[in-house]
Amino acid sequence: MKTILNNLNFFQKRKRNIILSPLKKTNFENLIEYLDTSLIRNILDIGAGGFVGETTTKHLTNYFKQSKIIALEKRIEACEQLEKKFAGKIEVICGDIANFNKGAPYDLIVIDLDASLITWIYEELLENQLYKLLKPNGYIIAIGIANIKNAKKFFSEEAARTLQEQWCPFMKKYIKASGMTLENMKIKFHESDKYYVLNVLDKWDKKENVVNWVFFQKKG
Ligand SMILES: C[S@@+](CC[C@H](N)C(=O)[O-])C[C@H]1O[C@@H](n2cnc3c(N)ncnc32)[C@H](O)[C@@H]1O
Repeated sequence: MKTILNNLNFFQKRKRNIILSPLKKTNFENLIEYLDTSLIRNILDIGAGGFVGETTTKHLTNYFKQSKIIALEKRIEACEQLEKKFAGKIEVICGDIANFNKGAPYDLIVIDLDASLITWIYEELLENQLYKLLKPNGYIIAIGIANIKNAKKFFSEEAARTLQEQWCPFMKKYIKASGMTLENMKIKFHESDKYYVLNVLDKWDKKENVVNWVFFQKKG
């Protein structure tokens, strides 16, 4: 029942945003705008440096102006770029999510790692590390696999082949489908004692996506 209400609220609020906003938003913005800014005080943005925060951090700082935002990034050069670009708006921590435990518990965790690390998120981090860092009823927005078959459209032939070799056995075991959808992720997490799946939206505004956003809420 709680999940149904969550989804109903999500779509009602999203519809309201679409009517109010004449500008086309990214699906990441559509997801964070579902959240009440006054309740999201502590945010962890994992892997923020990849595009120097253009996909996630920029929107988090715009929308959650009163929140504490920690950007965690593994590469030192990317940390320096983030520090310069978002000076005074975020705290940048150079480190690895595998052994990170500062600032917890978080109300919202965004995890946007490289495509080759998506399987690690679902097989390991979601169940253990992220669960420990998140408050009860807190949210996670995680990069997911939208469609294995579209890898060739986004990556070089060699990179797509390597990804498919990793993703195919994982998806076969994890969800028995070529992509994570709202329907199959809801079924997957139906009996989970850890998370509700609230939504699944394409990451890029393209017709044939290879990655998407999976939006979770931790059970209270
Ligand atoms: C797809 S990019 C993220 C893009 C970013 N959200 C943005 O808006 O620019 C992935 C990033 O995750 C970082 N990363 C990879 N493994 C990591 C780990 N174990 N801990 C923290 N960051 C990691 C990479 O260095 C890379 O910068």
